[in-house]
Amino acid sequence: MSETKTAAIIGGGVIGGGWAARFLLNGWDVVVSDPDPEVERKVGEVLANARRSLPALSDVTVPKEGKLRFATSLAEAVAGADWIQESAPERLDIKHKVFAEIQAHCRTDALIGSSTSGFKPSELQQGAARPEQIFVAHPFNPVYLLPVIELVGVQQTVERAKEVLDGIGMKPLIVRKEIDAHIADRFLEAVWREALWLIKDGIATTQEIDDVIRFGFGMRWAQMGLFETYRIAGGEAGMRHFIAQFGPCLSWPWTKLMDVPELTAELTDMIADQSDAQSGMHSIRELERIRDDNLVAMMRALKGRNWGAGELLNAQDARNKPPLPTAIDKPLETLSRVIPIDWMDYNGHMNESRYGQVFSDAGDVVMHMVGADPDYIASGLSYFTVSNEISYINETHLGDVIHVRTQVLEARGKKLRLYHEMIRTTDDELLATCNQLLLHVSLETRRTCEPEGEVLERITALGEAQSKLPKPASMRD
Ligand SMILES: NC(=O)c1ccc[n+]([C@@H]2O[C@H](COP(=O)([O-])OP(=O)(O)OC[C@H]3O[C@@H](n4cnc5c(N)ncnc54)[C@H](O)[C@@H]3O)[C@@H](O)[C@H]2O)c1
Repeated sequence: MSETKTAAIIGGGVIGGGWAARFLLNGWDVVVSDPDPEVERKVGEVLANARRSLPALSDVTVPKEGKLRFATSLAEAVAGADWIQESAPERLDIKHKVFAEIQAHCRTDALIGSSTSGFKPSELQQGAARPEQIFVAHPFNPVYLLPVIELVGVQQTVERAKEVLDGIGMKPLIVRKEIDAHIADRFLEAVWREALWLIKDGIATTQEIDDVIRFGFGMRWAQMGLFETYRIAGGEAGMRHFIAQFGPCLSWPWTKLMDVPELTAELTDMIADQSDAQSGMHSIRELERIRDDNLVAMMRALKGRNWGAGELLNAQDARNKPPLPTAIDKPLETLSRVIPIDWMDYNGHMNESRYGQVFSDAGDVVMHMVGADPDYIASGLSYFTVSNEISYINETHLGDVIHVRTQVLEARGKKLRLYHEMIRTTDDELLATCNQLLLHVSLETRRTCEPEGEVLERITALGEAQSKLPKPASMRD
């Protein structure tokens, strides 16, 4: 991003706090306006959760966090903002008042999104000075982790909004026509209504309903959604067979979807009591952290598969990937990243196997620097690691920002010896070192051989330049 952009967050509750975190951790400056005297604490708590989870989705350098401030008035908050996100309570009269004040003080080219779960843009725009400026940008909780945003509004405006959201790692979905509750909440409401009936009729408890989701179809939905899953369920004949087989059930009286159970005090007590029995041993903050850690672990698993939400994360990493080091006459900065949740072990620190991954990734950067890149590998030549001598010096914890500094100790012929120091970026603490030996190989014979062409020239030049450097401090100790 060439210059820092500013997002004004109007309403800093559950959703506004999540938006603030999403923008801030993607390098935007953020101004929050909310009449609640507790707003700084509330946003601070959401931000703390976001800081320990969102950066851990990345396998490359994360953007530098933007600046956060709390405005004394809505007018001050929106004055210079590029994006304004309204996340006030779900009441049309409040939203109309907020939009009128926003439009009286914001730039005419600012984007004004509303987090509304249910209102249509035409309802939000009633009485607005510039109706086309207001659109629905409906997120999902936690906004800092879940990528999808439903965009509804004037085409030109939502296309501009889409570009911004792409840049902060989200998955904007432009809804074709406005409709109450957009797409996802209509769908979720059907599931919610049926769940209420199952509890009211004594068929299932809150725990049992959650179990059929989390041990079953919820996992399918997270990676393939509804239709791709049902296509497979149709067997070789796919979707047509699925519809032929299960379509008739739709007219059987299985569901009570058109009918809404009355939320009497008795039913509310039943649900709340069951929910207390199921989850009351955890505070809401604990549950949020459990949810976030699970989401990060699941999204990282999908990243390894380059599928669904994981494919989106890989695309974001490709955008944030730093250029390869070019100065060869000083130690090489080969890696910078955050330590994610799925790298932790039962001792509450990073598992030793992950150090191997960090140093392997750092070694790959040196390979790419000398031209031993995917094209070179496809031509049948590569490097194999034959030894890694790792020293674990200090504990590495969840969320630590680390970088690796690499020196080439030897680069002659087939031999490439690297010395990596893994350092915690925040306090410069040395966490681990690795003395790594790589040998150049032919992928055809699976035996060592001399590097060829430009790779040979570059590796020799790199080795010579680095041989003039003093030994790394940790080698001398
Ligand atoms: N909670 C969810 O899961 C969820 C998901 C998606 C969208 N939404 C939508 O997001 C919006 C906000 O919901 P929430 O769950 O964050 O509610 P919330 O009650 O947690 O937060 C609303 C915030 O707005 C503030 N507020 C009240 N009047 C205001 C005003 N005039 N100007 C500025 N701020 C004002 C309140 O002090 C409060 O902090 C709603 O439109 C809701 O439909 C909620």
